[in-house]
Amino acid sequence: MRQNIELKTSRRSFWLWFLQRVSSVGLIIVLLVHMLAWHYINPPELTHVEVSKRLGESIFFATVEALLIGFVMFHALNGVRNVVYDYFPKPGTRKIVSILLLVVGIALFVWGTFVLFRLVFGG
Ligand code: HEM
Repeated sequence: MRQNIELKTSRRSFWLWFLQRVSSVGLIIVLLVHMLAWHYINPPELTHVEVSKRLGESIFFATVEALLIGFVMFHALNGVRNVVYDYFPKPGTRKIVSILLLVVGIALFVWGTFVLFRLVFGG
């Protein structure tokens, strides 16, 4: 039983460690595409009206921004979790912080993605 819990915890630690690296590579790629699409190649005027118009024109722009939100949310909040784990050894504190970060991350990702895709599909 105890061994099972330890195995589960170390598997989870590995996957979070691995995804921290994957999300940092994802961030580099998506940030590059974001900079090119919004600031270098035929950039729109950066006003609310023009930005909303462009987001509504093609699913490409909204998808890039949704990926950016996804990678940065996972990367930043999992990073905060790592820092918390370094300073707080109590399992109860760690669990509460992990759940809070998970809820905040999912809520912000769903909200951001919803706003972006509402501009694409209307409604
Ligand atoms: C292109 C952008 C980024 C790259 C390439 C990158 C890369 C990395 C890598 C490789 C790590 C793991 C370090 C380790 O475990 O030793 C890391 C950790 C971390 N990153 Fe990023 N990162 C980027 C952007 C960001 C952003 C935008 C945030 C916050 C808004 C952020 C917050 C963190 C935090 C809090 C950690 C954990 C630090 C720790 O474990 O001590 N990163 N980053």
